[in-house]
Amino acid sequence: MTAEHAAGGLDPEDWEGFRKEAHAMLDAALDRMQGACDGRVWTPLPEDAKAGLQEALPRQGRGVAAMREGCEALLDYGVGNTHPRFFGWVHGSGTPGNIIAEIAAAAMNANLGGRDHGAIYVERQVVEWCRALMGFPESASGLVVSGTSMATLIALKAVRDRALGIETRRAGCGAARLVGYCSSETHACVARAFDILGLGSDALRLIPVDAAFRMQPEALREAIAKDRADGAQPFLIVGTAGAVNVGAIDPLDTLAEIAAAEGLWLHVDGAFGAIGMASTKIKPQLCGLERADSLAFDFHKWMHVNYDAGCVLIRSEEDHRRAFAARPDYLAGAPRGLAAGDRWPVDYGPELSRGFRALKVWASFVEHGVDRFGALVERNCTQAAYLGHRVEAAPEMELLAPVALNIVCFRVLRDGADAAALDALNAEIVLRLQEAGIAAPSTTRIGGKLAIRVNITNHRTSERDLDILFDAVMKEAHA
Ligand SMILES: Cc1ncc(COP(=O)(O)O)c(C=O)c1O
Repeated sequence: MTAEHAAGGLDPEDWEGFRKEAHAMLDAALDRMQGACDGRVWTPLPEDAKAGLQEALPRQGRGVAAMREGCEALLDYGVGNTHPRFFGWVHGSGTPGNIIAEIAAAAMNANLGGRDHGAIYVERQVVEWCRALMGFPESASGLVVSGTSMATLIALKAVRDRALGIETRRAGCGAARLVGYCSSETHACVARAFDILGLGSDALRLIPVDAAFRMQPEALREAIAKDRADGAQPFLIVGTAGAVNVGAIDPLDTLAEIAAAEGLWLHVDGAFGAIGMASTKIKPQLCGLERADSLAFDFHKWMHVNYDAGCVLIRSEEDHRRAFAARPDYLAGAPRGLAAGDRWPVDYGPELSRGFRALKVWASFVEHGVDRFGALVERNCTQAAYLGHRVEAAPEMELLAPVALNIVCFRVLRDGADAAALDALNAEIVLRLQEAGIAAPSTTRIGGKLAIRVNITNHRTSERDLDILFDAVMKEAHA
């Protein structure tokens, strides 16, 4: 410890001992990542470990070794999404490289609410790369956020305030009857944003989908016309690039045309699908995404940035800033010094204090390059098609939705079983695979039927992993 450190602070007294603990933790973390393909997919936290966590608030610290041991003891009890046979929900699988970036971010302990410091320039560069990747204009603005739910909230706040006028920020929504439109397959975070923004989730019209689970443009046009005739104020269309149940991509180009013709804002939820813009094969399916007024997507899904990190892009920087900018005196900018710098993130989102999430995103782009992400997206889609074919070829299985991208929804059939029995059978198969540690698919409902849902946003998955999953489902089906 140098003489300048005040006694009684939180820095180690024994830096050599501290370094040993830190290096031990780094080795354990790297061992964990290096062995990510081995062993069980998911292991629940043992009862004694749960009990061990339920200690009284420590009045006295136990030191760095005890703290490091406690952290290390948790390593095997994650969600399982670092394993190649994790297929549940939509989770990215993380990278060892991000461990390095997280160490640097922790050492800097930067607050990215604003001001003029290195981390701000990194976030700006990440947003700029994303703007270019997604085909947004140079004038667009953006922010690195916790995930698509937060990105959606920020985008919808910008469009709400544009539609109702900026005085809404002070006066509230009053009796306004704003209505928005999305497909019945849209993620629940959009309805949640309507709720949080005081619009009410009933103001979000769910437009029916076609056989490929894509929004039906004609039904959208009719709904808008009906709402206008009823005196409501349509303001927003939400398209999805990769719907959470089956991976469907709405006809974004057509939605952009309808939005332009009707004077509505087009928001795209590209939580995982937007990263398809990195692939020359997938990009054509996303045609129209670049015409959106706003886009929400995640780095922690198909780009595998370690949790959590997402992004919002907004075409009109002015609409974006006007929805959030309002700085009290103590946050005033300055022409020089630490409080200098234009575009403070606090003026573009609800959070004042913000961590350095952007560094791990920057690190992933720098380490791997965007073409690699594109290639991995394509590989996952090929793998989904492969699994889909295996399901279709099996008489005792039923594919419940076309494989549009990276998700396979299917179920096991059993002679004589009624609808409820089939639901129970398939739910039980998923639970057994998870509990056995063999694989971790999840479930959803397709047309009312319980589906085994296999989502492949996993850079560690091989075809062999899909064979292991398929064989395990078959075995359970015949058990
Ligand atoms: C299509 C879609 N939209 C939004 C979300 C919510 O994203 P997040 O969990 O990053 O907030 C998800 C999550 O799975 C999703 O799949």
